[in-house]
Amino acid sequence: MTWHRKPRPKRAASLGQPLDRVDGRLKVTGGARYAAEFAVPNVAHAVIVTSTIARGRVLSMDTSAAEKAPGVIKVFTPFNSPRLPGAPKPGPKPPAPSGQGAQGPAARGALSMRVPTLLQDDGVRYNGQPIGLVVADTFEHAREAANLVRVRYENEAAVLDWSKAPLNRPEEVHPLGGERTVTRGDVSQGLAGAAVTVEQTYITPLENHNPMEVHSTLAQWEGDSLTLYESTQGITSVRNTVARHFGLTPDKVRVVAYFTGGGFGSKGGPWSHETLAAMAAREVGRPVKLVLTRRQMFGPVGGRPRTEQRVALGASRDGVLTAIRHHSKSTTSTIEDWVEPATSQTRMLYECPNVETQYDLVRVNVGTPTFMRAPGESTGTFALESAMDELAYALKMDPVALRLKNYAEKDPESGKPWSSKSLRECYESAATRFGWSRRNPEPRSTRDGRWLVGWGMATATYPARRAPAGAVARMMPDGTAWVRAGTQEIGCGTYTSMSQIAADALGITPAQVRFELGSTDMPENPASTGSVTAASTGSAIHDVAVALRQKLIQLALNDPQSPLHGSIESDVRAADGRLTAGGLLNRTETFAALIARNGGQPVEVTVASRPGADSQQYSMHSFGAVFTEVRVDPELGIVRVPRIVTAHAVGRILNAKTARSQIVGGVVWGVGMALEEETLIDPRTGRYVNADLAEYHVPVNADIGTIDTAFIEQVDEHVSSVGAKGVGEIGITGVAASIANAVYHATGKRVRELPIRVERLLT
Ligand code: MOS
Repeated sequence: MTWHRKPRPKRAASLGQPLDRVDGRLKVTGGARYAAEFAVPNVAHAVIVTSTIARGRVLSMDTSAAEKAPGVIKVFTPFNSPRLPGAPKPGPKPPAPSGQGAQGPAARGALSMRVPTLLQDDGVRYNGQPIGLVVADTFEHAREAANLVRVRYENEAAVLDWSKAPLNRPEEVHPLGGERTVTRGDVSQGLAGAAVTVEQTYITPLENHNPMEVHSTLAQWEGDSLTLYESTQGITSVRNTVARHFGLTPDKVRVVAYFTGGGFGSKGGPWSHETLAAMAAREVGRPVKLVLTRRQMFGPVGGRPRTEQRVALGASRDGVLTAIRHHSKSTTSTIEDWVEPATSQTRMLYECPNVETQYDLVRVNVGTPTFMRAPGESTGTFALESAMDELAYALKMDPVALRLKNYAEKDPESGKPWSSKSLRECYESAATRFGWSRRNPEPRSTRDGRWLVGWGMATATYPARRAPAGAVARMMPDGTAWVRAGTQEIGCGTYTSMSQIAADALGITPAQVRFELGSTDMPENPASTGSVTAASTGSAIHDVAVALRQKLIQLALNDPQSPLHGSIESDVRAADGRLTAGGLLNRTETFAALIARNGGQPVEVTVASRPGADSQQYSMHSFGAVFTEVRVDPELGIVRVPRIVTAHAVGRILNAKTARSQIVGGVVWGVGMALEEETLIDPRTGRYVNADLAEYHVPVNADIGTIDTAFIEQVDEHVSSVGAKGVGEIGITGVAASIANAVYHATGKRVRELPIRVERLLT
């Protein structure tokens, strides 16, 4: 791959600047290679065969027609597939994804412990589960043959109706949900003593991620070493998991992902297809490419679980919260217990003495859910922020005023100070730009022609997390830098923002930095999930570039031939590709000159960067505010969203352009969540009904009006050495509630079940 480098005007600092993506040209010219695009000679193509029942056993598979079909190399079934020594077996009681046993990024690492379906047994646990694999010379031949496989099942009654499914109360502390029940104060007393209460149930449906790039793997063995070109948000967990399945040490597996075409959580860890592709490649003695079909993106690679959330709020007459109770029930599969942590924000968002949160699971015969676009906070803020709006109406109070009245000056759950919080400024900025003060609070009071106009708002929040991360950096003899970290580019602009961080710390331009990522032979980094990359990998890049700068400074100070020889270290600055002591014209030299005189070899440093004591002393969260205008056709029930105004405080902005894109993307997905997205399961067969982009509705350009974003200036060095808190997921949080609240204001109809469709509005 050749990297496009456009010379840019010199800037003292590039951090924060709205730089174009350094990989933009590669992407738009097709030069950016995605997993399925690597040119590997002699590659065979695999297509997964999926179950057509939701629960039972595969009795037999007739593969004779498939085996005779043109181009077919081999057909794998549960009966002829090699046993994988480290493959987990689905048991009678679904386990929680275990392994590293903690919330946050560590729990995401625990994804490597999840239970995939690897043709190791004959069990069927959802409709669409991988039960076979056809390998052929072309994709078309493999797909054709996959359709010829005939399967006999023993059918069992599937559990598909979540309202009738038994509730499962996980006893243990779950790695994702934490403690099942968390209380402070006495919520019953708080509700009993309240002057005004609101208690309602809010429902969010099954959803699927639908990144543009479907999950893809290209598996190539050389001896007992495996290379996987993979579409993933987490190269390390894919490496570790696949290695374990084959009984290999992780160093025998290399995972490569230079570009990932969206993931939204579905690529946060490995599923089944990576190991199946590797298994097939080993058996047929050729590299194997496995690209899921769009339909296979529904089930085998996770989705958002359905949630049913009961929220009770109590307040005094003047709007002081006296109680919050939030119980969430979410669906999981019968393969693995997955918890959508929908109640987390409820414990920290508002000051309140009496709080109780709790979660339960409903096990149904669907694919195992996973992280999806701010898992927990997006579904959880829909419930909490809708309930807050209902409370504001019950109190006849402005929704912003109600939130300000209960503003948490420190984390009400832990009692710790915030590492930073500018939520007041977010409300202020977004409300002012929106024109909120002109709002007539009366529902159904505003019209524009035939349209009812509604204005609503909600609070956004997401944890600011940081995980250990490593990086290596070299100053090259030509004065450019080469920086590497085993992170992922999932569309956020990581190549660009990391180049900016390194450039500033080294006193060179981003165009002089070659930043590489996406291979497990680079220093280990966390998965690009949970909005951790800016703070985690960003800190590692910052730290490695500072360490490299210091090493170069030492080299100069100790070199009798250097013009900087004998200068005081603290006087030395790196800028414009050179070191200068005390700003003196005769005490300066370029990196290139320094290296040329000192052996002409690259100067290299490696760092391992990890969160410090601050992570224990402070509560770390990002905050924001979302204000929405909707227009509703009162006869047809059509909802339009012409205008959304946001303000977010997410720490230092590394790149104003890519950060804004993150928020805009999150808001667009929020519109999808509020108005369009829902995965439908046939209640008789468990079949995913709308498993394609024609029937699973996501917002298109025509659905989106103006999105006016702003960031509150903030640098949070408690969270990360670059001051960033992460901007990946907060953008979607609060959006669905903000829209639902605006719909209520427009129509007087409170819709508590997403998506807000015509029939839910008109009936
Ligand atoms: Mo995110 S849903 O943790 O990719």
